[in-house]
Amino acid sequence: MHVSYFTRSFHIKGNNLIQLTRASFSQNPQSWDTSSKIFSCTTYHCTHSPVSGSVWQPLTHRTHQPAASSRCMSSTVRRRRPPSAFPVIDGEFHPVHRHVYEANLRNSLICQQKYLENKEKVMKGGGENAIARHTLRNRKVLVRDRLRMLLDDEDYLELSSFAGLGLPYGDIPSAGCLTGIGKINGLWCMFIANDATVKGGTAYPITVKKQLRAQVVAMQNRLPSVYLVDSGGAFLPLQSEIFPDSNHGGRTFFNEAVMSAMKIPQVAVVCGSCTAGGAYVPTMSEEAVIVHRIGTIFLGGPPLVKAATGEEVSPEDLGGARLHSEVSGCVDHFAAAENEAYEFTRNIISTLNYELPEEDSAQVEEPLYNVDDLMGLAPRCYNHSMDVRLVVSRLTDGSRFQEFKARYGTPLLTGFARIEGHQVGIVANNGELTYEASLKGSHFVQLCDQRDIPLIFLQNTAPEPAHTFSQTKAESNTNRLKAQGSMMSAVACASVPKITVVIGGCHGGDSYAMCGRAFDPNFLFLWPNARVSILAPGHSDAFVQTEEEITQINEMLEEESSAFFSTARLWDDGVILPQDTRKVLSKCLKIIKQQEYQLSREKMRTPFLRL
Ligand code: COA
Repeated sequence: MHVSYFTRSFHIKGNNLIQLTRASFSQNPQSWDTSSKIFSCTTYHCTHSPVSGSVWQPLTHRTHQPAASSRCMSSTVRRRRPPSAFPVIDGEFHPVHRHVYEANLRNSLICQQKYLENKEKVMKGGGENAIARHTLRNRKVLVRDRLRMLLDDEDYLELSSFAGLGLPYGDIPSAGCLTGIGKINGLWCMFIANDATVKGGTAYPITVKKQLRAQVVAMQNRLPSVYLVDSGGAFLPLQSEIFPDSNHGGRTFFNEAVMSAMKIPQVAVVCGSCTAGGAYVPTMSEEAVIVHRIGTIFLGGPPLVKAATGEEVSPEDLGGARLHSEVSGCVDHFAAAENEAYEFTRNIISTLNYELPEEDSAQVEEPLYNVDDLMGLAPRCYNHSMDVRLVVSRLTDGSRFQEFKARYGTPLLTGFARIEGHQVGIVANNGELTYEASLKGSHFVQLCDQRDIPLIFLQNTAPEPAHTFSQTKAESNTNRLKAQGSMMSAVACASVPKITVVIGGCHGGDSYAMCGRAFDPNFLFLWPNARVSILAPGHSDAFVQTEEEITQINEMLEEESSAFFSTARLWDDGVILPQDTRKVLSKCLKIIKQQEYQLSREKMRTPFLRL
């Protein structure tokens, strides 16, 4: 818990001095946490002593802690926003745009094809043989079917589904572990579910990275988390890239403890092996469920016992469901079958202390323009970018947008809008991030921070940095540098939620100011046409000497800047189709908002300890 500020005031009443203290707290500086004010009132009484003169002694001290949900809609008081009728933006295409639109559309269709192929690939998990081993021999349910049993519906937000594809050490579908956010009994929860059809659910470096990212998302957005554990532990041939470093396997357990101390509930379902490090996942969770004949927890399995002691022991006797629920107490619920385990988990989630608002039945205005047009607006390269207002007009409620500083720093578009009823501030590139554009960006970001309005960044940054070929250019670049530095500071320090969608280029310093990955947005998604690299392909001429070097660097940039290359390495939270952007943004905004409804989050605690 971080104290933002204290204010004190004093009032004299008769012989008493009353001190009022107000404190503004935020749970996590990175998260958009409703600031709750603790208001304490101390009354001092004045006595006079001949030795020490006036002495003020405390008479009473009261601390009032308003309920965490004080800003939520209560059942009796319905709140309403002041009416707003932001102007509708012109989202019409002009005939002159047609050839650009068509070129973009052709490129987007190719990218969409790649997206669909990848999707098909990850749906197959570890392949036919592994699926047969998992279901027929091991009698376990496939991971996506497990999610069907656990979650309310299939309307969940899967994160980084293409992570792990095409890595130097092979194709690891879904990085061997599905992560995402779905509803359990109406509550958005993070799920982290091993896919044991991918090499026995063992952890590759990319698996560890994906699990850690899921925990960070859970922390930033205060999401209850459910682990479906079915893993053979570390993938041994790559142990040096999984075990020793700070952001390697051990971090998962460190995060579990920190999340617990932050009062983020965690539940584990042991629905397969929990071997070696994996054994700590259930034992560090607040509650754990184990499935009979399927779930096992041990640091070293039967082969290790045999090698060490010569004793032959079955997995069930060494660390099965009966042992851990009846003898060791490592788990809390014994489930006879998988479906029972997910039923237990759903019930556990319903014991968490949340007070969710009534479903809002207010009609949401759809954009006036077709979201499918976004395929033709997704730039195939920087000079095929059209006015970003055309994109905004297909994302916001009623295509409405209250522009801020419309005539100043025009290469950056800033303004307010609603997305499925959620008020947001939009910051969108509409050209290079100039001096004026950066100043405008800083101003607008601070404005949203002041008003607690989440920020949406639509990123399409310039393909290369501005060159310094003359004195005048050098001066203008220096000024621009300072203004961009200010914008970066404003973005980094804004404590509102931030969501970044890379709709075109993500290059160089401009991408930092536009809340790139290093600036910790709550979520970052890429459109399939997006390019992520320090320079865009074809723009390296000024930086290397020979033709051969230029060709080499450009080929490398071409390959490495693709959205699929990026997402395979988990530099984002996934690739989304342009036409799905509004739905995804709306879901993220709902997910982020849920933290306001947790009633039991105020007290700072030590992590939960299983004794
Ligand atoms: N590292 C690397 N590969 C591993 C592995 C590990 N820790 N554990 C399993 N695998 C591989 C197997 O070699 C096999 O590969 P293949 O499909 O290319 O043949 C695949 O994962 C599936 O393993 P398999 O044993 O055939 O499947 P299973 O369903 O019968 O058992 C486990 C799965 C995880 C229970 C079992 O493999 C196991 O106990 N592994 C060892 C776990 C361990 O001791 N881990 C310690 C890590 S520190």
